[in-house]
Amino acid sequence: MTKLTAPEIRAYRVKDGKPPLVMVTAYDAPSARIAEDAGVDLLLVGDSLAMVILGYEDTLQVTVEDIAHHTAAVARTRPSSLVIADLPWMSYHISTSETLRNAAKLIRAGAQAVKLEGGRKRLEMIDALVSAEIPVMGHIGLTPQSVNAIGGFRVQAKNLEDAAVLIEDAQLLEKAGVFAIVLEGIPDVAAKLVTESINVPTIGIGAGPHTDGQVLVFHDLVGLENGVRPKFVRRYAELAEDATKAVSAYASDVRSGLFPNQSETYHASSAVAEEISIYGSKLNS
Ligand code: KIV
Repeated sequence: MTKLTAPEIRAYRVKDGKPPLVMVTAYDAPSARIAEDAGVDLLLVGDSLAMVILGYEDTLQVTVEDIAHHTAAVARTRPSSLVIADLPWMSYHISTSETLRNAAKLIRAGAQAVKLEGGRKRLEMIDALVSAEIPVMGHIGLTPQSVNAIGGFRVQAKNLEDAAVLIEDAQLLEKAGVFAIVLEGIPDVAAKLVTESINVPTIGIGAGPHTDGQVLVFHDLVGLENGVRPKFVRRYAELAEDATKAVSAYASDVRSGLFPNQSETYHASSAVAEEISIYGSKLNS
């Protein structure tokens, strides 16, 4: 598979007859390798890391250092898919210089692009990043970093007025230079209209089928996440169940003495075994 670059993704549209883009989150080397072997187009080191891996209640606790640490693990697998790292909350809100410094840490950790949440309020920061040659992916609709401001993880753009604002935000992000936009937690009609109103691809999560791509959290789709499961998550495996069965079987084998067996044990040559045994008898006499 050849890597789709940020400029190639910018020009990628389903309306041109292409299949939808496939993006999945990856937070470490094993998930990056699995996603890569499955042939995904884009790997996102998402700030969902906070909830999925680090056990926080929301995404607000994760830091630039956390994302950089996990981005480096993903990048070490040398994936052929584009690696995008999330700029966490408060890493791109204070000043353009702080935003650039934080984005540079993620690029130096191995990302080829960054993602940030929000519409018109973020234009100055997007402009600064794009001017510094850093490809930026937008993210509008349900933006989890706004959980407190919007009063929970709620579907957005549920009326015409809000849908119109969302479309305008998408157009402003496109003008500011983003190469793609994630649309999260919005009705399908709103996602369709946003997709038809801009010239960069949209990647949906809980936004219906009328987008230029889909993204899911790795642990949700393989069944490793047992928390709240939103209706848009499709489970393709139940790995947590399988893993629990495997660990229970291991525990049972250890307790009953069935693990390890002879073939799972290192053996010394009979001469060395004899020598050690004589040494042991002398030690204990
Ligand atoms: O952090 C994340 O996983 C995300 C996706 C939900 C798009 O931002």
